[in-house]
Amino acid sequence: MDARASFYLLLPFLALLARDSCADKAGAATLNFANKCSYTVWPGTLTGGSSGQLSSTGFELATGASFSINDIPETWSGRVWGRTGCATDASRKFVCATADCGSGKVSCNGARPIPPASLAEFTLAAAGSGQDFYDISLVDGFNLPLSITPQGSGSGCSTTSCPGNINSVCPSELAVKGSDGSVVACKSACLALNKPQYCCTGAYGTAETCPPTNYSKIFKDQCPQAYSYAYDDNNSTFTCAGGASFLITFCPLDLICHPILLGYSFK
Ligand SMILES: *[C@@H]1O[C@H](CO)[C@@H](O)[C@H](O)[C@H]1NC(C)=O
Ligand SMILES: *[C@@H]1O[C@H](CO)[C@@H](O)[C@H](O)[C@H]1NC(C)=O
Ligand SMILES: *[C@@H]1O[C@H](CO)[C@@H](O)[C@H](O)[C@H]1NC(C)=O
Repeated sequence: MDARASFYLLLPFLALLARDSCADKAGAATLNFANKCSYTVWPGTLTGGSSGQLSSTGFELATGASFSINDIPETWSGRVWGRTGCATDASRKFVCATADCGSGKVSCNGARPIPPASLAEFTLAAAGSGQDFYDISLVDGFNLPLSITPQGSGSGCSTTSCPGNINSVCPSELAVKGSDGSVVACKSACLALNKPQYCCTGAYGTAETCPPTNYSKIFKDQCPQAYSYAYDDNNSTFTCAGGASFLITFCPLDLICHPILLGYSFK
């Protein structure tokens, strides 16, 4: 075999190598996921606008498990949420009790979460600013506690968290109940009652004319760092200098180990 022939034999492998290194370059950030809930969570991801979806748009995350999506484009905006109470039904469709995306599969493939859903929202390297913006939104209701922690060297990059379990304080007119009668999610007042003062529509269509309500205050009391309604004070958006990766933790206050306390108890 001459050198030329072996070059052509190698071509497909060289092409694969080239494609891999391009993919590495395009991935400017990583989204890491951790599940500290006592139950399995099925995270979903949705890229905003017309850009392509991430390599994973849905996956299973058992209690204590973690997962990473490494191919987040340099400028990316989108949202992440956690589905609960999922199972494959009699017609072989994958369905979830909360935050289902209606795809019938574990992957959401561009489908939105059906509210109520606690959302982690991102705009990374917005308009070339090098700044990453992120927030937790309960504007579409709440289904589980979660937090966003920037990881990396950027300064002023702080965690935003919705640690409270709003299901346990959800008024009955907003509550979504599971098959066992327990509250599994809490609708926003807009979704449940569909009134202009709750949806910030009509005469209530601006930040000035749409104040917090007795319902949005229930969400804000449990999760002061999260958006509780459409025109909530805009200090719920957090900013971090670009390049960071982000950790999304479901139920950030659960499954906390106390090795030091344990150590004491053995003394
Ligand atoms: C909120 O206010 C409305 C209107 O005043 C009232 O009907 C409703 O019962 C209140 N709900 C809660 C949970 O306070
Ligand atoms: C937003 O601002 C209000 C008042 O200006 C304050 O009470 C609240 O704690 C702030 N929220 C956050 C997340 O900093
Ligand atoms: C929210 O931000 C906008 C611009 O981003 C600003 O004009 C407005 O005054 C802010 N509102 C509050 C309540 O801070």
